[in-house]
Amino acid sequence: MTLAAPPPIPRAAGSFPLLGHAPQLVRDNLAFISSLRDSYGPLVEITLQPGTRTVIVQDPALIKTMLVDLGPSLDKGRFFEKMGQLLGDSVVTAAGQTHVRKRRQLQPAFTHTNIARYVDLMRDEAAATVANWKSGQSLDVREAMVGLSLDMLSKTVFSGSLDEATFRRLRRDLSVVMNGVGARIMLPDWVERLPLPFNRRFDQAREAVRATISTAVAELQASGHDTGDMLSMLLRAEDEETGRPLTGHQVCSEILTLAVAGTETTASVLSWVLYELARDPGIEERVQAELGDVLGGRPVTFDDIGRLPYLQRVINEALRLHHTGWLVTRRTTEETRIGQWTLPAGTELAYCQHALHRDPELFPDPLSFDPDRWKDSSPPPAFLPFGAGKHKCIGDRFALTELVTAIATIVRAVRFTLAPGQTVQPVARATVRPKTLRMTVQRRRDSDHGAAHAGR
Ligand code: HEM
Repeated sequence: MTLAAPPPIPRAAGSFPLLGHAPQLVRDNLAFISSLRDSYGPLVEITLQPGTRTVIVQDPALIKTMLVDLGPSLDKGRFFEKMGQLLGDSVVTAAGQTHVRKRRQLQPAFTHTNIARYVDLMRDEAAATVANWKSGQSLDVREAMVGLSLDMLSKTVFSGSLDEATFRRLRRDLSVVMNGVGARIMLPDWVERLPLPFNRRFDQAREAVRATISTAVAELQASGHDTGDMLSMLLRAEDEETGRPLTGHQVCSEILTLAVAGTETTASVLSWVLYELARDPGIEERVQAELGDVLGGRPVTFDDIGRLPYLQRVINEALRLHHTGWLVTRRTTEETRIGQWTLPAGTELAYCQHALHRDPELFPDPLSFDPDRWKDSSPPPAFLPFGAGKHKCIGDRFALTELVTAIATIVRAVRFTLAPGQTVQPVARATVRPKTLRMTVQRRRDSDHGAAHAGR
């Protein structure tokens, strides 16, 4: 019996010679990628790099196949190749056995016991951030959340030993590089080689970021640093292949990876949660009521993380509606079968979490922010906030702990208000984030973190 040939994979309309789909992507990448779900079936081909096929996987079952079943045999693809220009070789850019080894080195930092130890540091950082805000102040909330996420991460990763000026520089340079990575994914590779100011700024910022982290790592290494943080662990780790300690370069790549993977993502989710709470006083009141009941007058601790189901649902809903991923890639290394299709080696595969999580067939009324959609049901298979398979986010529990700890600390001290009619649009660079998010701070009465039922 011969099987019928599968239908050909359609090509998305509007590709240009030399440029591929770059014009559409540069104009509005989220709208372009989302429109593919309306117009095409389970697989659709777009062109990012002329001469290379990029297949967008849209069907949730095939996305699972790509991430879980095919995961071990695929390379990481274009997105991670561009990230690698900053990170070098690290757990996030590696594939195959190298990835398994690198992931094993990092894993101990993310155990339950270690995450429990980090909560007090995270809460103290959140409390210190909030303490600087004044009633009536107009705050760039996204910027503040990037700062807080980097603070929380640096305290847990390398005991926060960067001075304030270095921190500010690192933040600025990281944002230049991350925006650059976002652009480089969409534009054909030849654009990177043009002597444009945009490319020069990217190169300078990338060198500056690596130099800052390398210096910090070298100084801490020389000081005999052993404070039980992630850096201490990496400095003690051995390269399984050589049996030697990791080189300064390897340690720098892994630390930088954690800083990059764990800052923009967490900062965006924090920002969206605060935005949604400001938009819907009913949801905010329920969060406050739960915090009041569970915490009484005390600050949040690790034991509380699992005892705040409504806040968890709010966070889940932000991870659904406002997911930070818009193009997660893989690449075939040999002829590969996905569903009924066979793809040659060197084919790029990609999926868009942001569009997947807004598909009305998978999530009814997808654009409404409704934490109660998570009330009685377990998450559907198409909900992939942290990915799946062997590259699933290593920081998932760390991130959820940060999110609960920071939100609980922030919302008990302040509430935010939006200007009348203000809406906030997502923008996708390396990750999807609010374009700008300015809100006005109102401190709550008894705004100490001990305030029991403030705002109820
Ligand atoms: C809300 C925040 C976060 C979200 C939404 C998120 C999402 C993700 C996703 C979807 C992946 C899988 C990418 C793929 O399929 O290739 C991933 C991987 C990863 N994430 Fe996260 N992440 C978050 C926070 C963090 C944090 C806080 C850290 C570290 C402290 C972290 C470290 C990593 C690393 C190292 C990987 C690569 C894992 C591997 O390839 O083995 N992430 N993240």
